[in-house]
Amino acid sequence: MNVLVIGSGGREHALCWKISRSTHVKKIYCAPGNAGTSQVAENINIPAEDLQRLLVFAQEKKIDLVVVGPEIPLVAGIVDLFTEKGIKTFGPSKKAAQLEASKIFSKEKMKKYKVETASFKTFTDADQAKRYIKQQGVPIVIKADGLAAGKGVIVALTEQQAEEAVDLVLVQKAFGQAGKTIVIEEFLEGEEASILVISDGDEYLIFDSSQDFKRALDNDKGPNTGGMGAYSPVREITKELLKDIEKKVVSPMIKGLRKDGITYKGILYAGIMLTKKGPKVLEFNVRFGDPETQSVLPRMKTDLVELMLSSIEGTLGTKTVEWDPRPAVGVVLAAGGYPGKYEKGKEINGLNAVEKKDSFIFHAGTKEKDGKIITNGGRVMNVVAFGDSIKKARENVYKEIDNISFENMQYRKDIALRAASCEPRASRG
Ligand code: AMP
Ligand code: GLY
Repeated sequence: MNVLVIGSGGREHALCWKISRSTHVKKIYCAPGNAGTSQVAENINIPAEDLQRLLVFAQEKKIDLVVVGPEIPLVAGIVDLFTEKGIKTFGPSKKAAQLEASKIFSKEKMKKYKVETASFKTFTDADQAKRYIKQQGVPIVIKADGLAAGKGVIVALTEQQAEEAVDLVLVQKAFGQAGKTIVIEEFLEGEEASILVISDGDEYLIFDSSQDFKRALDNDKGPNTGGMGAYSPVREITKELLKDIEKKVVSPMIKGLRKDGITYKGILYAGIMLTKKGPKVLEFNVRFGDPETQSVLPRMKTDLVELMLSSIEGTLGTKTVEWDPRPAVGVVLAAGGYPGKYEKGKEINGLNAVEKKDSFIFHAGTKEKDGKIITNGGRVMNVVAFGDSIKKARENVYKEIDNISFENMQYRKDIALRAASCEPRASRG
């Protein structure tokens, strides 16, 4: 098979790597890719958003399977377009992708299917929004309805912060059309978990859980980022709790959407808050998470390509998914200044010194120049390591990171630290 992976982040490098291990795959292309994807795939210089050029390329190269990493092409309808032309494309339709493209659409569906989520109200008028905030009190959460590259959510701890958030989105229009309407929702407290589900619209399989670390600095300080690290599986997500999440979240969503005429295919990502009152949904995404995927896929023993084909063909009911029981911890190495202003073009040293057996380097913002690998983005790469316990996996990943350096490199030192420190003794390696 010829496979085309779309995207250029750490998630896409992990996808290319996992797909390259499938016995069904002969050749992988990645558009546009990075210096890491070029180790397992041929990079093609077409942006992930350029659906027409991607289509021409897929037709020319007789691509048998297209795997879409980021949300933008999904929301733009890449699956509908390619499927219509007879190209097998893994992911949800444009209609189903509304679950990520519009927080209001997603909240309304949750309400309809009785899926637990933060209580909410929507606003287009700043004064009304502010009156509601006064009534509700703080902390409170303000979200732009549309896609805002992870920046459209503001957790306000004071009334002033909440009002500023309303002004930023509704008055200053910081997110343009994506912020024409806002959702104001109840603040939820607890541990977060990301649950990835692969679905064929009818049957589904739930992947092992993971946790993303969204803030830039240790102890969850600093601004929100795309994610600074992730570990899998999440210590708190027991088999029973996962069953509960299946019953209360996954099954009602997939079934409800089907009743509403939406066959949900591809990955459904549920961001869950494990509150004292049980699991509640923070958001749905319609794709693999980044950086969660980099810690989840190394643990997957099953052939991912077979699962993706089953999702497209509607045969997931015949499949199972197997996991390496060892936890994996992944840490993002970012450029100094990220998520604010940062420099590119710094040479990355020490990559060859990393022990590759039980650890992985998944590139994100990197490119090759004159035989060297240089930085080319805010999140530069992910280092992931296995261990017999979370504590061991942490030790391993940070030991590998010590080999790597580039000017102004920054990373969090506390990825999975809380989980490692509460691990039951018996599970320690
Ligand atoms: P979202 O993109 O909706 O997942 O929001 C990004 C991050 O904001 C989440 O991962 C949470 O850390 C935080 N967040 C979102 N909604 C809430 C909420 N209702 N209560 C507390 N934190 C939230
Ligand atoms: N890690 C969060 C996301 O992929 O949206």
